[in-house]
Amino acid sequence: MSSTSSTINHPGQVRGLRPSEMSLFRDHLLRLDAESRRDRFNGTASDHFIMRYAERCLQDGTTVVGYVENGRVLGAAELHERPDLTPPTGEIAFSVERELQHRGLGAVLFQRLVAHARALGYTRLRVTTHPQNRAMRSLAAKFHARLTFEEGETVGLIELSQDDGEPDLVPRSIAPLTLLARATEAAA
Ligand SMILES: CC(C)(COP(=O)(O)OP(=O)(O)OC[C@H]1O[C@@H](n2cnc3c(N)ncnc32)[C@H](O)[C@@H]1OP(=O)(O)O)[C@@H](O)C(=O)NCCC(=O)NCCS
Repeated sequence: MSSTSSTINHPGQVRGLRPSEMSLFRDHLLRLDAESRRDRFNGTASDHFIMRYAERCLQDGTTVVGYVENGRVLGAAELHERPDLTPPTGEIAFSVERELQHRGLGAVLFQRLVAHARALGYTRLRVTTHPQNRAMRSLAAKFHARLTFEEGETVGLIELSQDDGEPDLVPRSIAPLTLLARATEAAA
């Protein structure tokens, strides 16, 4: 399957999920293919684990920004507070379903979540994944975020400057969401 390099207005919306929509978030995580699920949870995660995880997100006030299309969440960015850590630190995670990967959606979610984290005064974000996760590394690099891994560690750190010196991280809230066109859609 190939994709075109043109951009289209995507039918879905990137927005915060309401508490009542957390079951859509859970269903999204459950649909991740095996490799994406492993990358997302940094190891094996059973369906039962994911169901409990989504419930916990609802209970502990995790921010979830979702890509919502036809009543389904197909991509998500999460921001969990880590009040035990200083400076103000958030734990972030991203997931995009396989058929939508490599089309710019991760970048849109990343940008939206980091802008939100910055607005809340976080200065450091942690992302738990393996250092070989090329998609996550590319995503951070795209926004000039410094993602560093201690040797052998699975936690990447992103330092957020508060001076807005990184233009790519300024939210573009009124810009239309554009994603690479899907060849399958063009053919349909
Ligand atoms: C990480 C993830 C959310 C990225 O989403 P995406 O929609 O594919 O990301 P984008 O299309 O915006 O691509 C962002 C960058 O990553 C690169 N990228 C995406 N998938 C990649 C892959 N499998 N291998 C290498 N690079 C990849 C893209 O080329 C792009 O870089 P570029 O702009 O320099 O070309 C998605 O791959 C995913 O859900 N992975 C499984 C879960 C995971 O690893 N989450 C992160 C840790 S919590």
